[in-house]
Amino acid sequence: MDFKHIPVLYEEVIEGLAIQENGIYLDGTVGGGSHSLGIAQRLKGGRLLCLDQDREALRASQDRLKDYPNVSFFHTNYKDFQEVLRSEGIHGLDGILLDLGVSSHQFDEKDRGFSYRFNADLDMRMNSDQGKTAKDIVNTYSLEDLDTIFKKYGEERWSRRIAEFIVDQRKEKPIETTFDLVDLIKAAIPKEARRDKGHPGKKVFQALRIEVNNELGVLEESLEKMIQALNPGGRLAVISFHSLEDRIVKEAFNEAYKDCICPPGQPICTCNKKREIKKITRKPIVASPEEVEKNPRARSAKLRIAEKI
Ligand SMILES: C[S@@+](CC[C@H](N)C(=O)[O-])C[C@H]1O[C@@H](n2cnc3c(N)ncnc32)[C@H](O)[C@@H]1O
Repeated sequence: MDFKHIPVLYEEVIEGLAIQENGIYLDGTVGGGSHSLGIAQRLKGGRLLCLDQDREALRASQDRLKDYPNVSFFHTNYKDFQEVLRSEGIHGLDGILLDLGVSSHQFDEKDRGFSYRFNADLDMRMNSDQGKTAKDIVNTYSLEDLDTIFKKYGEERWSRRIAEFIVDQRKEKPIETTFDLVDLIKAAIPKEARRDKGHPGKKVFQALRIEVNNELGVLEESLEKMIQALNPGGRLAVISFHSLEDRIVKEAFNEAYKDCICPPGQPICTCNKKREIKKITRKPIVASPEEVEKNPRARSAKLRIAEKI
């Protein structure tokens, strides 16, 4: 299957990274490699390290970038990027890109369980080699936890009822497939409410995917380390698709932007905290109406960029 994914905010990312031709770059979420190709094309002597936890994505981008000798590929979670730097003997980066979430390709792969459009095992792991699946979650999490996940990560209004239906159902028989779950969601949401636009499973599927891949936890634990890993003048660009992700990026940038954090009124600074970044984007960059028209996925994208001082 061809790897289908239209990059989001492409020009804005490439311009925002202010690529130096001899710089060292890291794409933590290479996916189909469109952004990485743009970076590779602007490099002369530098290097580009491409990471993805999805083997298929990595294979596709490797093939796409095969003519660029200074690009290397690593099957790993971006939270472990420091191990990659260590193994490559790299001490600082001039730019890092994170384009979060899943690719359109992952949604279109029928057997991965990301989509409510195809009947498949309820999996949803980006890294098929490890971690719990969506099936594990729906069959083992408590009613409370399911309710919380659906509400928090999916903003699902009927979270409680859906969680109740799941817990009742699994007493009889485990929930195995995407269509098992879709049927339960449809049964749980009152008929009148189901006329709201969009597929009734959309929010719950999004919530489960975020939980399966610990998407928010991984982001939260990585940003500060990434800022630390930048050389002076190096840039970190993050595209998020969920309000909770954007909040994590915003707060990490705010934290790194703070100068002294001593209590107000303390006459002499004892914390020694220094501002670490300049904010290149005061407000997140969003896609133009033309881009959203061509690629509806871009609608919720927010790009924030920081530069290491
Ligand atoms: C939105 S796509 C990236 C698309 C890419 N920028 C392009 O131009 O094609 C996100 C990719 O990041 C990967 N991904 C998501 N979270 C990850 C993580 N924590 N570590 C490594 N890869 C991750 C997914 O497997 C997916 O391939």
